[in-house]
Amino acid sequence: MKPVPENRQQALVDRLIEACGGAYAPETRRKYYITGPQWAAAYEGQALFHAPTRKPVSFEEVIRQYAKIGIGHWCTHDTDVIPTEQLDKDGQSQILSRIKTALRENGLECSMVTAETFFNAVWAASPAAEAPEVREYAAWRLRNVVAIGHELGAKFAVYWPGSLGYYTQGAIDETDTLRWYADGLNAACEADIEIAKQHGRPTLKHCLEAKPFEPQAEILLPTSDAMLAFIGSGLLAHPEMVGLNPEYLHELMWGGAPRAALARALLAGKLWHFDINDGYRLKHDVDIAIGLVNPLDWLNVLVLLRSHNYSGPFNLDFKPPRTTSNHGVFAVSFPTAVDRFITLWEMAGDVISDPIIKEATDALKAGGGAADPHDAASVTAANRELLTLHELIGHRMVQILIGAHRGRTYSA
Ligand code: GLC
Ligand code: MN
Ligand code: MN
Repeated sequence: MKPVPENRQQALVDRLIEACGGAYAPETRRKYYITGPQWAAAYEGQALFHAPTRKPVSFEEVIRQYAKIGIGHWCTHDTDVIPTEQLDKDGQSQILSRIKTALRENGLECSMVTAETFFNAVWAASPAAEAPEVREYAAWRLRNVVAIGHELGAKFAVYWPGSLGYYTQGAIDETDTLRWYADGLNAACEADIEIAKQHGRPTLKHCLEAKPFEPQAEILLPTSDAMLAFIGSGLLAHPEMVGLNPEYLHELMWGGAPRAALARALLAGKLWHFDINDGYRLKHDVDIAIGLVNPLDWLNVLVLLRSHNYSGPFNLDFKPPRTTSNHGVFAVSFPTAVDRFITLWEMAGDVISDPIIKEATDALKAGGGAADPHDAASVTAANRELLTLHELIGHRMVQILIGAHRGRTYSA
């Protein structure tokens, strides 16, 4: 094999991604409510055991590249773009006006803002720590994020309380911590009501995002279901302003079925925002891009969301792998993630209108018409043959996923 010199590698990547085909035009991509996080594109590949592999990228560059790809919405943590010491100071307003210019020049909208309440040393004991000054600082940060959101025209605020937990048992009283966490959210909602009024805008949709492990050893709100219980606990002053931002992988991480978790959120009327990515069950938060690990499950998730008219954002909360270069982030990682999403979304439409799946599903719902519905043997017998359709539907889903429903066969 001949080595590929450094100065020919980008051209090779560009030629092969072109050869892959199947890319959608930026205008087509913009028709979907796809949002691109600042932190995802700017991720440099660092982790506990990993040094960075990529160079820093400015928000101007991220916004410009998203526009070129056809990602119409951008979102950010406060401190992705504003240094902690500049928050709510002159530096913040200068940066916000640079962001607004970049968004305007590239025809992007800011969809969501989120508070970083996990990285800075001040959060060592979480934003709902015992010390009242930490909680006052947290409330101030959340109020400021709401103000930033209105300034940038966002519709959503997301909260990932990843540091709400402990390493050593018995060090905290969980009920106190949860009450204090609710106080922080209440401060954000109260501020929102005021600030929205001043701007003549509707209030933001405040969305909680659960993750079962990391960065704490034990986490107090580890799943979307725990979040739903928390929203309904009576601790929130404005539960109607608070919903969910489930992340696909975060549900998989605890061993759950993401589609079932989403169904429960849908039933509660709280599925407002959705972080799309992929990964493995019962492993850490690898944030792989959508469809690279579980395309069949993803197809099923999108069938559920299409059937129930989910109309919120699909947020590309994945991390380009460390092996991908700065060039690759925008040449391969983001466009292919968007295109797999669009393909799976359209395929979900194929599933919904597939005559075989439809006939099978209708037949299952009609049942066999047992003569005596109070007789177990007769009910079982009446449905015995119909139930084979479950496996048939599973087969059909795979056929649709791989294109075999269009008659693709192999002559072996
Ligand atoms: C962090 C988390 C991510 C979450 C985001 C929003 O970056 O890793 O999953 O969506 O914060 O708060
Ligand atoms: Mn996320
Ligand atoms: Mn994640």
